[in-house]
Amino acid sequence: MKKGFSGLFIIIVVAVLFNSCRKDPSLPEEKTPYSVTYINPRSIFPEKYGMPALPADNPLTEEGVYLGRMLFYDPVLSIDSTVSCAGCHAQQNAFSDPKPYSTGVFGLTTNRNAQPLFNLAYSRVFFWDGRQKTLRELALEPIQAHNEMAMTLPYLRKRLASIPRYRDAFNKAFGSEPDVFNMTLALEQFLLTIVSKDSRFTQMWPGNFNILTQEEKTGLQLFNGLVDEDPVTGALRGGADCFHCHGSVFAQANNPNFGGIANNGLDAVITDKGFGGITGKSTDIGTFKTPSLLNVGLTAPYMHDGRFATLDEVIDHYSDQIKFSSPNLNPQIKVHGPKQRLLTTQEKAALKAFLLTMTDTVFTNNPAYKNPFK
Ligand code: HEC
Ligand code: HEC
Repeated sequence: MKKGFSGLFIIIVVAVLFNSCRKDPSLPEEKTPYSVTYINPRSIFPEKYGMPALPADNPLTEEGVYLGRMLFYDPVLSIDSTVSCAGCHAQQNAFSDPKPYSTGVFGLTTNRNAQPLFNLAYSRVFFWDGRQKTLRELALEPIQAHNEMAMTLPYLRKRLASIPRYRDAFNKAFGSEPDVFNMTLALEQFLLTIVSKDSRFTQMWPGNFNILTQEEKTGLQLFNGLVDEDPVTGALRGGADCFHCHGSVFAQANNPNFGGIANNGLDAVITDKGFGGITGKSTDIGTFKTPSLLNVGLTAPYMHDGRFATLDEVIDHYSDQIKFSSPNLNPQIKVHGPKQRLLTTQEKAALKAFLLTMTDTVFTNNPAYKNPFK
C-alpha cells in the first residue's frame, strides 16, 4: 500500500515537472497553430468535365495553391535566380513557350518544346514521352535539370528557408518550415487548379452547334469525319479524322488505343524515341503524348520539337505529308494510306477556323493564375 502510494507520488511529481518544463520560456516556442481554407473542387472543375481524380493526400487549400503560385513565378527556384517555371510557361501562350526550344539557366536550351499547362488534373501521364505520373514528382525535374533551373534540393531548401515570405507562406499552407516535399505539394496544387473551360469550343460542346459560323461547322465536320473509301467509286471521302486522337471535351484522348500516346507520322526516320525511350519497347519508338488542342491558336510552334511554326503547316502535315513508312505509325492514321486524305484549300481553312474556336482568353487572362508578385 505504502509502496503504491509513493509510486503514484513520483508519477505526479514527474508530470508536474514535465508540464513546467514545457512552459519554460527558454525553450523554443511551440509552432503557432495553423488552419487552412479548403477549396471546394466544384468551384474549380466545371460539371461538363466531371470531377478529376485528385490526389487524396494533397487537398487543395487557398494557402497551398497560393504558395504554389508564388513558387511557379519565382526565379529563386533556379541556381542563378534567373529562370522561373513561368519563364518557359507563359500564361498568354496557355502556359507554353513561343520558342521551339526554351532557354534555361546560362543560356542553355531544352531539347523539346515546352508544353502548355491546363486541365492537368485530368491527365495521367506527363511530358511528351509520358515519363512522369504525378505532378509533384514532375516538378523536381525542371528544378534540377542542368539546362532548366540547375538547382540542388538541399540548397533550394536552405534558400527558401532564408526568405521571410516563404517562411510565412509554408507555415500558413502546411504549418511547416520551407521544405522540398511540401514545395512539391504546393506546386502540384497550383498546377491542378489551372483549368481552361471558356473557349467557344467548350461552350459548343457537346451539341450547341448554333454558336459556330458556317465555316467553323464545316471544320467541325472535317474534324469529326472519318476518312474512308466510298464503297461504290472507291474514292476517298469524308473528313480529316482528328477526333480519334484529339476528341472529347478536352480535345485530347487519353484512350491508349487512340492517341493517348501515339505516332502521328512526322518522320520516316525517328531521332527522338519519345515514349519508346522510356519503356525500351520497339513498339513505342516515335510515340508521344497527344496534346490537347484547346488553345492551339496560342501555343505555336507545334509538336514535341516545335517543328511547325503555324497551324497551316500542321494541317498540311495531316493532309498531305504523313510519313507512311514511319515506325509505329498509329493505325488510325495508317488506315488512310497510301491514298492520303488530301484536303482542299477551302477545307484546310475551315479546319483551321474550327481549331481557332478552341482559344480561351478568359483562361489566359484569369487573375487566379497571374504572377502574384506583380
Ligand atoms: C527552361 C524551360 C522550362 C522551365 C524552367 C520549366 N519547364 Fe516545364 N516544361 C518544359 C519543357 C521543354 C517541357 C517538355 C519536356 C519533355 O517533354 O521532355 C515541359 C513540360 C512540363 C509539364 C508537362 C505538361 C504535360 O502536359 O505533360 C509540366 C506540368 C511542367 N513542365 C511544369 C513545370 C513547372 C512546375 C516548372 C517549375 C518548377 C517548370 N515546368 C519549369 C520547359 C520548362
Ligand atoms: C493517331 C492520332 C492522331 C490523329 C488522328 C491526329 N493527331 Fe494531332 N497529334 C497527335 C500526336 C501524337 C501529336 C504530338 C506528336 C509529336 O509531337 O510528336 C499531335 C500533335 C498535334 C498538334 C500540335 C499541338 C501542339 O501543342 O504542339 C496539332 C495542332 C494537331 N495534332 C492537330 C491535329 C489535327 C488538326 C488532326 C486532324 C487532321 C490531328 N491532329 C490528327 C496525334 C494525332
